[in-house]
Amino acid sequence: MLIVKDLNVYYGAIHALKSLSFEVNEGEIVTLIGANGAGKTTTLHAISGLLKATSGSITLYDKNLNTTMADKIVGLGLAQVPEGRRVFSKMSVYENLIMGAYTRNDTKADIQVDIEKMYQRFPRLKERYKQTAGTMSGGEQQMLAIARALMSKPKILLMDEPSMGLAPILVDEIFSIIKDTNDAGTTILLVEQNAHKALNIADRAYVLETGKIIISGNANELLNDDRVRQAYLG
Ligand SMILES: Nc1ncnc2c1ncn2[C@@H]1O[C@H](COP(=O)(O)OP(=O)(O)OP(=O)(O)O)[C@@H](O)[C@H]1O
Ligand SMILES: [Mg+2]
Repeated sequence: MLIVKDLNVYYGAIHALKSLSFEVNEGEIVTLIGANGAGKTTTLHAISGLLKATSGSITLYDKNLNTTMADKIVGLGLAQVPEGRRVFSKMSVYENLIMGAYTRNDTKADIQVDIEKMYQRFPRLKERYKQTAGTMSGGEQQMLAIARALMSKPKILLMDEPSMGLAPILVDEIFSIIKDTNDAGTTILLVEQNAHKALNIADRAYVLETGKIIISGNANELLNDDRVRQAYLG
């Protein structure tokens, strides 16, 4: 479904991604794990079109994403939940959800049906639909960021450290939402520092170190891999 091949990204003299190649198959949860600065966010930004790769190719269903603008990429069925739970902070919860659907051609009624679905999945958002997004708690904003991305009805969802900074109970909730979203048919590329939890819900995984993939395999194989255990599972 998504194929990344020989991707190179430079920030000036910094070679952030070094001939990165990996793929995500339809229906999978694939996780990309790695330490701070490994290049995880850079990888997601290159895929979603927020930054331009120096060389290499990114294809989604045979469409070349390198030459596609970020807003068109959303229209192709790819959405990203950015790092740091970014929401439109001055807009209400409801307006954020509407914004999530901006690339859809559906009627207002269809979009309203999906907003109701989000309210069912995230009851707190329903309770607070009028609240200014920026005044929601960190966990609530993360729920909103996920719900907003889902409003574009993505075929593949890219998530950048969705559990970061959340209390353990909320972390568990986020991971179960990711699992449910995948069970409902959305393919997921998940970037996480919480390698243990990510490997527990993923089908396959790639370990990124200073811009290179150093280990890849089935998630349960990696859970038992000594190198992964030492470096990422504490
Ligand atoms: N805009 C930028 N300008 C210069 N260097 C950058 C820029 N963005 C990222 N980098 C560098 O590229 C490397 C990869 O950064 P990236 O944000 O992709 O890492 P990450 O794996 O997401 O880390 P973290 O877990 O801390 O979020 C880092 O060395 C970082 O300093
Ligand atoms: Mg990052």
